[in-house]
Amino acid sequence: MRARRALLYTPGDDLRKITKAAALGVDCLCMDIEDGVALNHKAEARQTIITALQTLDFGRTERLVRINAAGSGFEAVDVETVLFAGAQICPDGVVLPKAETAEQVQWVSAQIAAAEEHFGWPAGEIALIIQIETALGLVNIRQVLTADPRLQAVIFGAEDLAATMGATRTSTGWEVFYARSAVVAHAAAFDLQAIDMVNVDFHDLVGLEAEALQGAQMGFEGKQIIHPNQIEPVQRAFTPGDAEIAHARRVMDAYQLHQQAGRGAFALDGKMVDLPIVKAAARVLARAAAAGKT
Ligand code: COA
Ligand code: MG
Repeated sequence: MRARRALLYTPGDDLRKITKAAALGVDCLCMDIEDGVALNHKAEARQTIITALQTLDFGRTERLVRINAAGSGFEAVDVETVLFAGAQICPDGVVLPKAETAEQVQWVSAQIAAAEEHFGWPAGEIALIIQIETALGLVNIRQVLTADPRLQAVIFGAEDLAATMGATRTSTGWEVFYARSAVVAHAAAFDLQAIDMVNVDFHDLVGLEAEALQGAQMGFEGKQIIHPNQIEPVQRAFTPGDAEIAHARRVMDAYQLHQQAGRGAFALDGKMVDLPIVKAAARVLARAAAAGKT
């Protein structure tokens, strides 16, 4: 699966920001029609996103569009406008915020499938990514994450979740820790990428990097960001370092030798290595390869 170490939001009605973001080499750029866009700018955002898809060179950056939530009253027009603009105008993926039921996920997937069929695009190629960021979405997470095979990743939204739970956001994040853990565990259970919460304090890059590393340690594969300055620290936090990669290679090599000799567990550098540690090393190498480090 492609690397989604940093997912940068840009308001869909701001062509200047989209143009800037497209040139920054970020893994994913998410052009927003939802909460980053004022109610009276939704139509402008849809049209601006079409212009951007039509005219800008995004390089290797994934082009995502975040539509409005199911039931908002905007979602059908969002999908119709952005996915049916023309055979040459096709985002790489759609982000559904505030996902709460399997039916909502299936509805978006069916709309994408209809556009693929209509324009003769390869079936199943446009990604679907959903956000778990409401109390109902969290308690329904299993049905939401298993709703449709088009689903590739799940994003944890801390700010909206806190709002729906009546929680107050703190710098430690303990108030959303259960939900953050639940999202990453469910993503792993159903073989999806997990993308961590936003850090809205875009001047605190030290705090951001610590939070990103914590997310990586929990098993998240990437993090949502809102400002260009956040790209570098976040992509670095989700890229295995040289020492980590070298160690993972040594674990894999030693594992092969010990397997051949009939030993499941062995010692390396004074520490026990058995199958879970070998699996973790294999994941490090897969993440390094996805990030272009081989
Ligand atoms: N995407 C692309 N460019 C961005 C950007 C973003 N998300 N955020 C800031 N920039 C650009 C600015 O346009 C500015 O460009 P310039 O130097 O060419 O004028 C530069 O980066 C520096 O920006 P800065 O002055 O530090 O911030 P700001 O006050 O312009 O913007 C925000 C602050 C929070 C409004 C802005 O970062 C933003 O729009 N973030 C995304 C919000 C969003 O989409 N929210 C919904 C999802 S959570
Ligand atoms: Mg949200």
